[in-house]
Amino acid sequence: MATTLNINGKKETVEAAPGTPLLWVLRDHLKMTGTKFGCGIAQCGACTVHVDGTPTRACITPHDSLDNAKITTIEGLAGTAADAIRDTWVEIDVPQCGYCQSGQILAATALLSQNAAPTDADIDEAMSGNICRCATYMSIRRAIKQAAGKL
Ligand code: FES
Ligand code: FES
Repeated sequence: MATTLNINGKKETVEAAPGTPLLWVLRDHLKMTGTKFGCGIAQCGACTVHVDGTPTRACITPHDSLDNAKITTIEGLAGTAADAIRDTWVEIDVPQCGYCQSGQILAATALLSQNAAPTDADIDEAMSGNICRCATYMSIRRAIKQAAGKL
């Protein structure tokens, strides 16, 4: 079944079985491998994308439920908050193995887009669904605060 999706501002038509999770459409059909597979059951956040600006777990979101939505992945993430997050991630050297980091950056960017001066509690709440096996949590919190100062 052909479905047309709006991904990173571009229309993409994919042939995938009804109900196929967006994650597999991104990775297998469109070869956009920046969005990662971790748990497959909405528990780790590795597969986070934005759907109309909201952090969304691509591993449990059927691609054919997104007809009219704007999907943003790490490959297309742009804007003031995204730039501040990415620059600060590099400055502070947040990533360790890097596996979870595209999901972390998508979640952090969504937070700063809605709240330019997040408290520790705001950050902890916004980032609570994104697991990092390398435990970069303290660096992530510091980077989000530092990025907020650039907005
Ligand atoms: S792979 Fe989607 S939340 Fe873990
Ligand atoms: S940096 Fe390794 S899992 Fe997060």
